[in-house]
Amino acid sequence: MQIAPASGKRAAALAAPPPAAIGQERRAGRHRDRGLRGNVWMSAATTGKPAQGRTAGTAEIQTNKRGSIDTNPPRGTRDFFPQDMRLRNWLFDHFRSVSSAFGFEEFDSPVLESEDLFVRKAGEDITDQLYNFEDKGGRRVALRPELTPSLARMVLSKGKGLLLPAKWFAVGQCWRYERTTRGRRREHYQWNMDIIGVEGQEAEAELLAAITMFFERVGLGPEDVQIRISSRKVLEGVLRRYNVPVESFGPVCVVVDKIDKLPEQEVVRQLSNLGLDSEAVNGVLSATEARSMPELQELLGSDSEAVKEMVNLFGLADGYGIKDWLTLDTSVVRGLAYYTGIVFEAIDRRGMLRAICGGGRYDRIMGTFGGDNLPCAGFGFGDAVIVELLKDKGHLPDLDHQVDDVVVALDESLRPQASGLANSLRKTGRTVDLVLEEKKMKWIFRHAERLSAKRLVIVGATEWERGCVRVKQLAKREESDVPVQQLCSVSSDEAFE
Ligand code: HAM
Repeated sequence: MQIAPASGKRAAALAAPPPAAIGQERRAGRHRDRGLRGNVWMSAATTGKPAQGRTAGTAEIQTNKRGSIDTNPPRGTRDFFPQDMRLRNWLFDHFRSVSSAFGFEEFDSPVLESEDLFVRKAGEDITDQLYNFEDKGGRRVALRPELTPSLARMVLSKGKGLLLPAKWFAVGQCWRYERTTRGRRREHYQWNMDIIGVEGQEAEAELLAAITMFFERVGLGPEDVQIRISSRKVLEGVLRRYNVPVESFGPVCVVVDKIDKLPEQEVVRQLSNLGLDSEAVNGVLSATEARSMPELQELLGSDSEAVKEMVNLFGLADGYGIKDWLTLDTSVVRGLAYYTGIVFEAIDRRGMLRAICGGGRYDRIMGTFGGDNLPCAGFGFGDAVIVELLKDKGHLPDLDHQVDDVVVALDESLRPQASGLANSLRKTGRTVDLVLEEKKMKWIFRHAERLSAKRLVIVGATEWERGCVRVKQLAKREESDVPVQQLCSVSSDEAFE
């Protein structure tokens, strides 16, 4: 299947959580920030500290006076040190376990895609923010700013062979040349869940239920987060009323999405530039003011498609028991041109942060790529805002680096025995740190404590001659000599701790 080249200018620029997550959730009650504060997971805006060695307008990788490189990653991007990876894996484990609970299958696609996939002429920020360039073979390529066009490409490549409905999820890195603010970065990871092939609002309801399940699992409730819902059909109806051409629908939505960010005059100017007369502009602006079903009914009439879909969606949400999370708000349109129906976004109730996630129905994307349209609905959920919110709420989990056992040889000659023992313990399912150098006992105890080890296993000559090792159960502060065979024959679950 060929993808039609984009026209227009090129852009310038519930299963239970997995075992690891369970343990971490149990410990999530203790909300220490240790190991997380001040690292690169938190934005400079959060920590209030500028990145070292940077001045505006200088090259990102630069050498200092002594000729060493700048050790900061490029502006707006992050290194993930081991403590950051623990948090990232915890978050992604939740993304994946919620997706699995809803029966979704994981997919992935290249971070580098053909530029044409992302160039749309609707005036979206995402197009201006594209990381695009020519590769060594002269092809125009781009780092994906989102996952949806790649999903559409993959769905189209399967043609009629794809069993519908398809429920797919992904967790992938996306790149946008954005102005970095709290929760907005130049690279971020996005969790996406998409349903392909379902026309009704059952799809949106299922997606909203997945989002709320995720929030609950990380300790957030409807008192913390609100999911605002609208339908692009509200604006579609208004534009039809004022005879605005159908082609203007996407671009108008992109402008209306900026109502909160731009002065009203500028919004009016941009809408007029799209060919809307003053009556139509006023009609569009007042259509964004409805905050309840009666207001929506008054605006569009009870028989309108938008009202019927919204009533259906809220009815389904009631069935899921998630109604408390949802609120109707016609100012929500989302900034991507391809949405065609229900749109939604989750926001922090205090209004301190950018949207936590956003999504909606996009039934015409396949057609824009030269294929047959298919009903689709989905959402993207970034890794940045949610971490900021969890941090503000004191819900960041305590994720220490942890092993079951530390194994140490008391002298050099016993190193092979200690290595063999460590490996045998690993084969029983235990996590084992082997001390690789000669160290003083004081260091070893401190090391075992730092790793929150349950046991310290000491391989000493006297015990080894008797076929034993010394096992110190660190929490109980008890120790005994245990036969090596016995130690290595019990599974991790039954271990002698
Ligand atoms: P989006 O609204 O552009 O939608 O982004 C979705 C989410 O990704 C945002 O709500 C935010 O959590 C995160 N995000 C976006 N840009 C950044 C950034 N610069 N830094 C940090 N986080 C960011 C989409 O991307 C659609 N493709 C979602 C979708 C999937 N719709 C249907 N299926």
